[in-house]
Amino acid sequence: MLATVLLVGSLLLWWACSRWRDALSERAPVLPCTARAALLLIAHPDDECMFFAPTILGLLREQRQLHVLCFSTGNYYNQGEIRKNELIHSCTALGIPPSNVTDLPDNPNVQWNTDLLSDLILNHIKEKKIDTVPLHTHHNITMSIFLVEVIHAGSVFIGCGVLVLETVNVFRKYLSLLDLPGSWLYPKDVLFTVSGAQYSQAKEAMKCHQSQLLWFRRIYLLFSRYMMINSLALLTCEKEEKALKAS
Ligand SMILES: *[C@@H]1O[C@H](CO)[C@@H](O)[C@H](O)[C@H]1NC(C)=O
Ligand SMILES: *[C@@H]1O[C@H](CO)[C@@H](O)[C@H](O)[C@H]1NC(C)=O
Repeated sequence: MLATVLLVGSLLLWWACSRWRDALSERAPVLPCTARAALLLIAHPDDECMFFAPTILGLLREQRQLHVLCFSTGNYYNQGEIRKNELIHSCTALGIPPSNVTDLPDNPNVQWNTDLLSDLILNHIKEKKIDTVPLHTHHNITMSIFLVEVIHAGSVFIGCGVLVLETVNVFRKYLSLLDLPGSWLYPKDVLFTVSGAQYSQAKEAMKCHQSQLLWFRRIYLLFSRYMMINSLALLTCEKEEKALKAS
C-alpha cells in the first residue's frame, strides 16, 4: 500500500518536474495593468525568499520596479547587523539592488512603532510612485490590517493595490510542485510560478541567510510550495472592506 502511494507520488513528481521548466515559465502572471512599481513589505529578513521568491522573480521578469521594506524590530537577539547584511545579499541574489532595500532601524528596546512604519511606507509610496504592495498576513493579522489601512490612506494613494499572499493549509504548503494543479484551480488574482533556473536562484538567495539555515529550513526549501508558487489576492478598496469585515 505504502509502496504504491510512494510510487504514484514519485511518478507524479517526476511528471510535474518534467513539465515544469517549459510550461511554468511560459505562464506569464496576470498583473493589474497599472502595476509599474511594487513595494514588497516583509516582517523579517528571509521572508523575501522563504515566501516571496516567485513574486519577486515574476515582477522582475515583467520588468516592474521593485523595492523591499523590512519592518522587523525587536526580535533580532543581537543579530541585527548580521541579518541586515543577509537581507541585502539575498535581495542582490534575487536581482534587487541594495539601494532598493530598506529596513527599519533595529533597536531591541523599541516596540513595533506604528507611526514610524506608516511614515516610512507612505514616503516610499509617494517617492517611488508605488502602485502595488505585496504583503502576507499570516504572521500578524492586526499588523496586516494596519498595513492595508496605511496603504490606502489618503486620496494620494488611490490606485495603489495591495496584493495579499494566499496562505495555504499545512498539507498544501509542503506539496511542493504538486500543489500546482490546486493553485491553478483555486480562485486567485495573480499567480507567480518559477522556472527551474529561478528556483535555483531562490535557493541561492536563501543560502545568504546563513544565520537562519537550520535543518528544518533546509527541508522547507525543498518542499515548500512558497518557494515555487505564489498565489495572491488583489485587494482593491471595496474588496478590502469586505475582507477586513470578514476577519
Ligand atoms: C530600484 O529603484 C530604482 C529607483 O527607484 C528603479 O529605477 C529601479 O528599477 C529599481 N530596480 C529594480 C530591480 O527594480
Ligand atoms: C501583532 O502586532 C501588534 C502591533 O504592534 C502587536 O501589538 C502584537 O503583539 C502582534 N502580535 C503578535 C502575535 O505578534
